Order: sequence, then structure tokens, then C-alpha cells
Amino acid sequence: MRVVIIGGGVIGLVTAWRTAQRGARVTVVDPAPGGGAARVAAGMLAAVTELHYGEEALLALNLASARRYPEFTAELSAASGQETGYRTCGTLAVALDADDRAHLRELHALHRRCGLDSAWLTGRECRRLEPMLAPGVRGGLRVDGDHQVDPRRLAAALLTACERAGVDFVRQRAGRLTVTGDQAAGVALEDGTEVAADRVVLAAGSESGRLAGVPREVLPPVRPVKGQILRLRVPPVYAPFLSRTVRALVRGGHVYLVPRADGELVLGATSEEQGWDTTVTAGGVYELLRDAHELVPGITELPLVETLAGLRPGSPDNAPLLGPTALPGLYLATGHHRNGVLLAPVTGDALARVLTDGGLPGEIRPFSPRRFDRAAREDTAGESAAPRGAARENTAQRSHA
Ligand code: GLY
Repeated sequence: MRVVIIGGGVIGLVTAWRTAQRGARVTVVDPAPGGGAARVAAGMLAAVTELHYGEEALLALNLASARRYPEFTAELSAASGQETGYRTCGTLAVALDADDRAHLRELHALHRRCGLDSAWLTGRECRRLEPMLAPGVRGGLRVDGDHQVDPRRLAAALLTACERAGVDFVRQRAGRLTVTGDQAAGVALEDGTEVAADRVVLAAGSESGRLAGVPREVLPPVRPVKGQILRLRVPPVYAPFLSRTVRALVRGGHVYLVPRADGELVLGATSEEQGWDTTVTAGGVYELLRDAHELVPGITELPLVETLAGLRPGSPDNAPLLGPTALPGLYLATGHHRNGVLLAPVTGDALARVLTDGGLPGEIRPFSPRRFDRAAREDTAGESAAPRGAARENTAQRSHA
């Protein structure tokens, strides 16, 4: 069984590793494996604090993946000899003004309805947990089960684990999907070389919707959702600056701070519908720093070491597209939007299984790419002018993440 995976980000790599472990010959096609959205991501494993109304099916998948993290990272570290930065530090979500507090109360009620573990704290209790928080914090939710991992370390460990498991890497861009008869047959590289395969997995993140050669009716409806993010450093003299992930609503704007054990502090993130633009803007950086400063005034003392923008692979219902498509031999592992790092373990396990023994694990059934087939057919019939993944109306807003 030969499997070719287009895309060597965290999702492509975890799928490659798990599939190679099940005995398949796996090739990953990517000019820079280990890059992608995970290079930018903060790595919150925020199944509970990032819950949104109407996303209960996604919640089940997110929780299933979060539960696998301890075993997954232990196995990955053993396989690669590298640490992933997995930290069971929990999360505190706080509110700055009365409206923010009302919003957070609603989230708490949703948690209770879904049977999730989260505890309401007063502002004073929040500051007792995290003394760097501003006196203006009005209340918060303590969620001890939402942890974090370092996505860059995770990607590096997956790359090594793949190499050790015998995965081949072709460091080139995929030019087009090759289709023979009614069957995906591999990929043609940009230099014209063809890589033949029995099964092809499209795991190219936000770019998954624009690979040439993919029949329109199976092209995944993913689009780029821009996120700007900052990295600061906590000098030892200020440590521990924060002891857990802190998320906040600051006058309606969402912001998060993710403190790593090695002193890195990640501050994110914007969420912008800007097409393929990855420019870091003065406005994006200003808003993140302004809100983070209101939340944790001491942040302005810290060295700012990196500003970056990445593209989340957004899907129409914010949930991933996982499993076989209507084109025999073509599988998808894309559309993970805000949850790619969180969903890596469950995606790798499920895709490896479906690729090697054909069984579709129950937990990914609600996320079949086929749920969009009808919309695609209607689109084709109407000859919609807008290509999938095209820039949408610019509705830049601060991340819900
Ligand atoms: N889940 C974090 C983000 O998408 O910004």
C-alpha cells in the first residue's frame, strides 16, 4: 500500500507517522515539512475554553483528542527522542468589564449544559491564582483540563518520528493531483515528476482548496483565516510571569497568553478574512498589545521577540474534513481551523485506520468531507463565480480563539 500525503504540517505529519506505523509505504510532499500553520500557532489545547454555541459535535472530537494527548506525546517523545513542550497547566479565562463578564457567564452555563469541568471565580480569586492580572479583572473561569503544547517542538518531533518510521519526504510543491480513470493515482510535482500512490491524502491546510487536478465536486471548501500572533520572552527575573494559559475578553476583544516552561510567552491572535495575506500589521500588533496590557500591565516590560501571521484552514462549519471523498483513492485531512494542534492525535489515528484497513472510526463520521457534497453540486450547477478559498469580505475581528 503506497500512500502519498500532500502537506507536511502537523496534520500531514501525524497522519504519515501513524500510517507508516501500520505498515504502509508513506511519502510526504512538502517543500518545507514541519512548517505550516503550526509554526505560528500558540498550541492551546482548549477544547473547553474555546467552545462555541452550535459546535457540540466538534466538542466531542476535541475532547477525544485532548484525552489522547498525554499518551500521544509520551509515545512521540520516545519515538523521536524529542520533547513536545506538553504542559498540563490548565487555563484561566477572565473578563475585564461587565459585558465581558456576562459573556463569560454564558460560556460557563454552556459548559454546565455540556457536562464540562469549569469553575466560576471572582476577580480576587483570579488574581490570587495569577497575581500579574490587572486589578480590573471582574471574574473568570478556571478550567484545569485545557492544557498546552509547543507546536514547533511538536512538528519537529513528528518530523523525526516520521523519518525513523521510514516515511519518505519529497521537498517540493505538489503541482496537481493525478487521476486515472475515476481514481486518484498520485501527485505530479511542480517539476513534472509523478509520485504514484494507491491512496492520496490532501492535508495542505488552507491551501487544500486550490490544488490543481482535484475535481471541483471534491475540492474541499477551506479558506485561509489570518491570525497575527506575537512571541515575547519572560526573563528569569520576572518568572513565573503567568503559571497557566490566560485567555480574556477585553471589552469584547479576545486575547490569549500562553506561557511556556522555557520562558516563551505567546500572545494571540487576530482572526481576519483577508485571503492569502500574511502581512503583520501595525493595527494587529497594536490591538493585541493594547488588550494584553489592560489584562496584564507588566507585559510591556517584556522583550518582544517575534511577530508573525499564519493562515488557519477555515471550513464552512468550523470543523475539519476527515476521511474519504467521492473520488476513490482521495482522502482529506484538512479544515481544522482553530483546532489543528488539538486535533492532531485523533486525526492521525483515524486517518491511519481508514487508509490502511478501510474502517471509518465512529468519532470522525460526523466530519466526513461528503457533508459538503450537496453544496458543491449546487455550486457547480449554478456556476458560482467565486472560487473556493477565494478572499472573502474583510470582516477582520479579534479571534474567538
Ligand atoms: N486556537 C487558537 C487560534 O486559532 O488562534
